[in-house]
Amino acid sequence: MNKEIDWQKEDLNYIWHPCSQMKDYMSLPPIIVEKGMGINLYDINGKCYKDVVSSWWCNLLGHCNPVISNRLKKQADTLEHVIFANFSHKGIIELCIRLSKLLPSGLNKFNFSDNGSSAVEMSLKMSFQYFQQINQPQKTRFMALTDAYHGETIAALSAGDCDLYTKIYKPILMDFIRIKAPDCFRCPFDKTRDNCNCECFIDCQRQFERFGSETAAIIIEPLLQGSAGMKIYPSLYLKKLRKICDEYNVLLIADEIATGFYRTGKMFACNHADISPDIMCLSKGLTGGYMPMAAVITTNEIYNAFYDDYNNHKAFMHSHTYAGNPLGASCALGVLDILEKGDIQQHIIEAAPYFNKLIKENFLNIKNTGEVRSIGLINAIEIVKDKSKKIPFDAKLRIGYQIYKKALKKGVLLRPLGDVIYFNPPLIINKEDIDYVVKIARDCTCEVLNEV
Ligand SMILES: Cc1ncc(COP(=O)(O)O)c(C=O)c1O
Repeated sequence: MNKEIDWQKEDLNYIWHPCSQMKDYMSLPPIIVEKGMGINLYDINGKCYKDVVSSWWCNLLGHCNPVISNRLKKQADTLEHVIFANFSHKGIIELCIRLSKLLPSGLNKFNFSDNGSSAVEMSLKMSFQYFQQINQPQKTRFMALTDAYHGETIAALSAGDCDLYTKIYKPILMDFIRIKAPDCFRCPFDKTRDNCNCECFIDCQRQFERFGSETAAIIIEPLLQGSAGMKIYPSLYLKKLRKICDEYNVLLIADEIATGFYRTGKMFACNHADISPDIMCLSKGLTGGYMPMAAVITTNEIYNAFYDDYNNHKAFMHSHTYAGNPLGASCALGVLDILEKGDIQQHIIEAAPYFNKLIKENFLNIKNTGEVRSIGLINAIEIVKDKSKKIPFDAKLRIGYQIYKKALKKGVLLRPLGDVIYFNPPLIINKEDIDYVVKIARDCTCEVLNEV
């Protein structure tokens, strides 16, 4: 197309961007990205942005990673897509074989869709139908944690509890049983991470006592409630949850869409607690952030409840056009090629403590830093108005958004969640980039705090 085009203007003429107040784009127009490499994005003027949020947490191993790109290019010349009912292809079969070796034990039946929300929907429908088909029709309800985030489609949104996304839709959402999530920063039991025994599990216990018999499944983000502000909770909570699910015959759905693939330092967050869920949802890092693909993986036991003569109508009649897409599968195989070598894991072991130490050095001496929390390469800094009382700033001040704008000017793509500044970079980030992005984040935070 002709070089005279004003891309930003035309973008605004046509495009309604996700999760955005479009009026904000008048003062901060969309950045038109032309290429990516490693953790860098380059706009059409050649300006570089360090993508330390992995473009919505999905870019796992850097932009335009040669291993993944080559797999994808080869696949595009071979087979781009094929109906996945009654048809299959080698790439997706190989993916299941290789992934099943890395999954918590018992998870070996794969169902595919094309994004995280659709995977969550699928996991809920599957749980409901499972109980209908094993003669427990009373199990029709679902549980989820406060502050949860599981996506934007109606059932996924119903599972979620972040007002920013759910509030207006409440009249049309499903009625989930809500369990008070652990809140380690503002622990209602006055415990610290060092002396906690998950006393907060008591609320879960109570809800299971009340509603366990009518509940089909509980869905959780294991260890890390991402969208709620990178809230990290202990693995002991997961162990307790696994146990109570078994006691009450409630399926445990681990939404590892954001946490899977070494985001928390281990392949899956569930590995920290040594537990196997009954259903796991994966997306984002699955394809290294290249292609929209999600997987819902479950056990033989659940699969078998759907397996019968056709006329008994037990099949899971759920499909998505792009289920098992070969291009997505080729990228996912590229991701496994890299992860199976083990270098990334070694890199995380070295880089994670370095990153966290640097953040603590740079942020803990700022009077408005409420808490620094970290897991794997994820680091979050909660900015508060009053540190001793843990009181947040008035949301109307949009502290996080002001920091975001300043950091963009300096070439760092942070995307704070409210007033929680966080880093969730591609796993390949090196020390030089860590130094750079932490410095910029600190500078911008101090500048904004000086202005309020
Ligand atoms: C934990 C979790 N579940 C589900 C989703 C929804 O995934 P998608 O945006 O692909 O629908 C997200 C997205 O951020 C997520 O973090």
